[in-house]
Amino acid sequence: MQNKLEEIIASIDISGPVPEEGDQRQYYYIKKMRDYTAAKSQELGRNLTACTVTFGCQMNAKDSEKLAGILEACGFDVRDEENSDFLIYNTCTVRDNADQHLYGRIGRASHYKKENPEMKIAVCGCMMQEKTAVDKLHKSYPYVDLIFGTHNLYCFAEYIYEVYHSDKRVTELWESGDRIVEDLPTDRKFSWKSGVNIMYGCNNFCSYCIVPYVRGREKSREPIDILREIERLASDGVKEIMLLGQNVNSYGKTLEDPISFAELLEATTKIDGIERVRFMTSHPKDLSEDLIQCIKRNPKIARHIHLPLQSGSDRILKAMNRRYTKEQYLALAEHIRQEIPDAAITTDIIVGFPGETAEDVDETIDVVKKVGFDNAFTFIYSMRKGTPAARMEQVPEDVKKENFARLLAVVQDTAKEQAERFAGMEMSALIESVNEEDSSYVTGRLSNNMIVHVKGDPSLIGSFVPVKLDECHGFYYFGHVLDSDETRQVEL
Ligand code: SAH
Ligand code: SF4
Ligand code: F3S
Repeated sequence: MQNKLEEIIASIDISGPVPEEGDQRQYYYIKKMRDYTAAKSQELGRNLTACTVTFGCQMNAKDSEKLAGILEACGFDVRDEENSDFLIYNTCTVRDNADQHLYGRIGRASHYKKENPEMKIAVCGCMMQEKTAVDKLHKSYPYVDLIFGTHNLYCFAEYIYEVYHSDKRVTELWESGDRIVEDLPTDRKFSWKSGVNIMYGCNNFCSYCIVPYVRGREKSREPIDILREIERLASDGVKEIMLLGQNVNSYGKTLEDPISFAELLEATTKIDGIERVRFMTSHPKDLSEDLIQCIKRNPKIARHIHLPLQSGSDRILKAMNRRYTKEQYLALAEHIRQEIPDAAITTDIIVGFPGETAEDVDETIDVVKKVGFDNAFTFIYSMRKGTPAARMEQVPEDVKKENFARLLAVVQDTAKEQAERFAGMEMSALIESVNEEDSSYVTGRLSNNMIVHVKGDPSLIGSFVPVKLDECHGFYYFGHVLDSDETRQVEL
């Protein structure tokens, strides 16, 4: 990858005119920036440094790897937040607490900037697609040097160049964008696993959700580009990939040569070196029988289906525009349990959607008990300006909190009970880190997305090892690595 990047950069002529668009234009600016950072580093007697701070979902995490890749290609050394000359915040706006968190962090960054006059601060991502947030930054955070959004992230190199070559703040916002620019540099956080975007945006317009407004319409990447990216990752040593999209089940429907998500998923598992494939997120209304059968017959596909429920009340589901009923959800979950019994089913639930009563929450609790989720992320509804639900009658805060506590207790009990069912089993774990509390242990992730701690040394990080899950501790296990005498066959 690094060699390919250097080859492309070497082929760019920066004495000629700026290429009109696409990746060539960005490589032109990367090369220009290299000259700038080299000169500046010489002047300062040290290299210029940069840091990417990420909020939000896996999609943002993936975007941040692209931002970091571009910064590195421009000649910056990647460092921490406090010791960077270029700091970029990649924002999320799915709930109000994400917004507040950002303002706190940028406030703190003003202190770093006072100590380091070289410092530049940039803010990008979902929140920047909202006018009120951008106005607030302009007004109350005048020391922010660069603002851009989700549709023009691929122009980052060009914007960095502008920031260093103008004395004004740079704000570049696009209302929409259907361009997918392939082949920009990325700096992957982990050497053995990687997210892979298969689609961008969302067309579902769930009535509470801001994502379709800030990420734009659904666009699928061409399968050939996705598979080529995964082949490259595999040849770089990546063993586990996660296919990313807001609603992966509708992947490929709008391509010139339509292809289903199940077909794409199957194809990714055939790539040499790829041992496990995950995906996020499935919308229950679009999860096909083909996909269930594809997971069932292919052991490389993770035994984990994240299937956001949001609510168990038909009335609320309708108002949320989710387009399924409680019964349909239950039938789907039961079918998955029958077909793939070793798969974990996890979910997202919102409490306090406009008009939600205690009886509606009882319906949600009923689904939690019937499905027995292996894990559930529960959120208190947060009003997002511009969404249909923002105009509906809101639930008082204390009612939301009471219902939330009631739901959370059931969710936790259910998850604990579910975890017990895997205790004593033998599985394959991908070791991801040294245990934070006891460094003689390492921590691995199972195909069903659960966590296991086993005795072992850091050299295991990034490898699959067969483990036995000896003890269940609610949300994680203690186990041991099976040695060669324990000759049982553990499926990958
Ligand atoms: N595309 C994914 C989820 C994206 S957002 C899907 O449809 O499942 C992740 C989760 O945030 C959602 O599943 C939902 O539970 C939660 N969420 C979205 N908007 C919210 C809001 N306004 N208030 C509270 N939670 C919200
Ligand atoms: Fe939001 Fe619904 Fe799209 Fe998920 S499917 S991103 S919840 S609008
Ligand atoms: Fe947040 Fe944007 Fe993801 S709003 S949840 S970072 S798509």
